[in-house]
Amino acid sequence: MSNYSELISAVEESKTMAISSLVKKLKSEGKNVLSFSAGEPDFPTPNYIKNAAIKAINEDFTKYTANEGYPLLLNAIIEKFSKENNLNFKSENILVSSGAKHSIYHLVMALCNPGDEVIFQAPYWVSYPEIVKLAQGKSVIIDAGVEQDYKITPKQLEKAITKKTKIFLFNTPSNPTGAVYSKKEIMALAEVLKDKDIFVISDEIYEKILFDGEEHFSIGSIDYMRNKTITVNGVSKAFAMTGWRIGYAGGDASVIKLARNLQSHSTSNASSISQAATVAALKESNGEIAEMVRQFKERRDFIYNSLNKIDGIKCPLPKGAFYVFYDVSSYYGKNYNGYEIKDSNSFCNYLLTDQYVGLVPGFAFGNDNCVRMSYACSFEELTDGLERITKALHQLK
Ligand SMILES: Cc1ncc(COP(=O)(O)O)c(C=O)c1O
Repeated sequence: MSNYSELISAVEESKTMAISSLVKKLKSEGKNVLSFSAGEPDFPTPNYIKNAAIKAINEDFTKYTANEGYPLLLNAIIEKFSKENNLNFKSENILVSSGAKHSIYHLVMALCNPGDEVIFQAPYWVSYPEIVKLAQGKSVIIDAGVEQDYKITPKQLEKAITKKTKIFLFNTPSNPTGAVYSKKEIMALAEVLKDKDIFVISDEIYEKILFDGEEHFSIGSIDYMRNKTITVNGVSKAFAMTGWRIGYAGGDASVIKLARNLQSHSTSNASSISQAATVAALKESNGEIAEMVRQFKERRDFIYNSLNKIDGIKCPLPKGAFYVFYDVSSYYGKNYNGYEIKDSNSFCNYLLTDQYVGLVPGFAFGNDNCVRMSYACSFEELTDGLERITKALHQLK
C-alpha cells in the first residue's frame, strides 16, 4: 500500500536531519563532537517556575482544562500583552497551545484557503514553509541577505504583495539570524500593509533575548494594525521552558475562534501542569532571565569578534536570540584532500567529518551562503569550536 496523503507526503523531513544523524553516528563512535545546533537555552528552567508545576501536581491540577486554556493563565497572558506589548485583549482573543509552533500552525490553517499566498523572508525559521504547505497555501519568500543585515525593506514587501496575499508572517528577533527590526523599520513595513486586507502573524518568541539596549516592538500595537495582527509568543526561549510546550497567541476573536476549534479536535488543551507553571513564569519576575540574557550577550560578543577575525567570513552583529548566522560562501569552490566545498551542506559536512564540529547549513533556512551556529553552550565549547573551525578553514585550498 502506498496510497498515502499527497498533502502530508509533500511535507519535507527536516533538512537538518542528515547532519544530525551524522553527529549522532560520530558521537556513538566515541568521537569528541561539538554540536552547535541547539535551538534551546542551555540554562535550566528557573526554580520558581518548577515549584509552581510541583505545586500544581500536588494540588491535583492534572485533569483536562478548558480547550482554550484555564482562566488564570488567560488572565496572565492578557496582562503580559498589555504591560509588555501594548496590546489589549479579552479572553476570547487568546489562544493557548502546546508551543508557539502549534499556535502558528493553527493560525495559518485557520486563515489559508488553497492557493492563498503567505509572505515571509529568507532566512526564515524552518517550519514556516512546511506549515504553509500543510495549509495548502503558497509561500512567497523575500530574500534578505547578509548585505542588508538579513532584514527586508518596505519596497521588497510591497513588491511581494499580490491579490492572493493572505498573510505576512513576521519574526523579530529572528531565528536563525538574530536580526532585530527596530520600531522605525517595523512602522515602515506596517505602512505598506496599512490599507491592505492582509493578516500579520507576528512571531515574537525571542522578544526577551535582546542585547545592546535593543527594545522589542510589537507590530500589532500600531493602531491601524491591531485588528489584523495576531501576535504569537511562548515560554520556550525566554524562560528556558522548551520541554514544557506552551505557546500562545492574541488577536482577532473570530480568527482565534477558528484556531481554537481546530485545536479542540487535534490536541485539546495544552498540558495543565505546564499552564500552571506558565502563570508563574509570566507573573513573577525573576533575575534568572536577566542573568541568562547577560550570559548570552557575553558569548555573542566573543563569538562575533572571533568569527570576524577569520578571513572570508561575513558575520553581522546579531542583536537578539542566541544564534550567529554567517556567510561562508567565499569558501565555496575550495578543496581539502579532494573534498570540495560546494554549498552550505558540504561546508557543514566538511567541518563535521574533519573537526567534529556540528553547524546547521543555511539552506535549511532558505540561504545557502550561510551557516547557523547556536551559542546556547559553554564558553569552553565555544573556544574549542572556534579553534577547530579556524583550523579547518586554514586547510582549505
Ligand atoms: C522563530 C521561532 N518561532 C517559533 C518557535 C517554536 O517554539 P515553541 O514551539 O517551542 O514554542 C521556534 C522554536 O525554535 C522559533 O525559533
